[in-house]
Amino acid sequence: MNAVMIKLANRLKSAKPSPTLALNAKAKALAAKGADVVSFAAGEPDFDTPAHIKDAIKAALDAGFTKYTATGGIPELKAAIIDKLKAENRLEYAPDQVLVSVGAKHSLYNIFQALLSPGDEVIIFSPYWVSYPDMVRLADGEPVIVETSAHNNWAPDPAQLRKALTPRTRAVILNSPSNPTGGVYSRQTLLDIAEAVRGHDCLLISDDIYERLLYVEGGFQNIANVAPDLAPRTVVVNGFSKAYAMTGLRLGYAAGPKELIAGMQMVQDQSTSNATSVIQKAAVTALKGPQEPLDAMVKEYAKRRVVMADGLSKISGVKCPRPDGAFYCFADVGELIGKSYKGQTITGSIKLSEMLLEDFLLAAVPGEPFGADGYLRFSFATSQAIIEKGLGRLAEFTAKVS
Ligand SMILES: Cc1ncc(COP(=O)(O)O)c(C=O)c1O
Repeated sequence: MNAVMIKLANRLKSAKPSPTLALNAKAKALAAKGADVVSFAAGEPDFDTPAHIKDAIKAALDAGFTKYTATGGIPELKAAIIDKLKAENRLEYAPDQVLVSVGAKHSLYNIFQALLSPGDEVIIFSPYWVSYPDMVRLADGEPVIVETSAHNNWAPDPAQLRKALTPRTRAVILNSPSNPTGGVYSRQTLLDIAEAVRGHDCLLISDDIYERLLYVEGGFQNIANVAPDLAPRTVVVNGFSKAYAMTGLRLGYAAGPKELIAGMQMVQDQSTSNATSVIQKAAVTALKGPQEPLDAMVKEYAKRRVVMADGLSKISGVKCPRPDGAFYCFADVGELIGKSYKGQTITGSIKLSEMLLEDFLLAAVPGEPFGADGYLRFSFATSQAIIEKGLGRLAEFTAKVS
């Protein structure tokens, strides 16, 4: 038979597969072969999904709740999300302003598909979650990167943001607490961003997925809280993966302007339809049920954060202040770049990450795909014992660098 030439769509040319998923897969493949891999690569809780949430899935299955639901989510879940956003975030929404999707990633994907026309720009602060630029490109949009730095606690510089805003800017993405930096925007930073975007007719996308993972006083706030005049053009994205340890169950949601939500619903109607029926039931239980399991997870992350950040900073060539949120330490390894290990130059974070995995069975995600070469991301969603073991391996490596 003749080989078939498959010509893929042009829009795929500018997108790359997720490097974090790729590294994770490589680490898992090594572990499957019996290697004693220490992985700090995963962007997911190591805790089990709380038992009462699993029970809710089983009960929904047993009750035969296995048919299609409304695309945008079952009314009970939409109501629970609306209650949560009102009680915890002081934001009010009607049911037609909420769309339940297959993870927060899916919510974001729907936003860009619904919002962007070719050439439209989306401002993304770097370091950024790796998927943002590619999701924008897959919707024929253009990511516009505005750099932030550790010296400024990863807060965007309003002057740089102003410079990046153009008549083509359709949205600005905010992610606080942040993946990969663990940075949390202060009220003043949010006010500065608000001031910069007023007068520009663009959407604010507030990716609040790490909202519950906060290690600083003051509670969570997003741009719609500190600048209520911008709430009508803010879309809040959130989900159950990180807070409730439900990554594989895939459930997220968006709440925002009803015209945008209607557009997103159209995209979802013609792609996935509804999120999994029984998981929607479990999400109602997650929101309405006891929050103690979540509090216990956050307490444990808070301890690990200290062990990881302080441990990293003790290693020669590595600097890492304690992050304010999420479960990532974004360590400055700039001093190691350009040096040599086993006769090979450490050309950048990707090379460094490869050396660590190959010779020390240590998986840490390179900063380069997050827009920050010179950094490595270490997830502390793993036990303190594993953190100590991994830090030991990193110290062994740095001792051999010259
Ligand atoms: C910043 C950020 N937003 C969104 C997501 C997507 O989460 P979900 O599992 O709900 O799709 C992630 C997951 O890693 C993330 O880090």
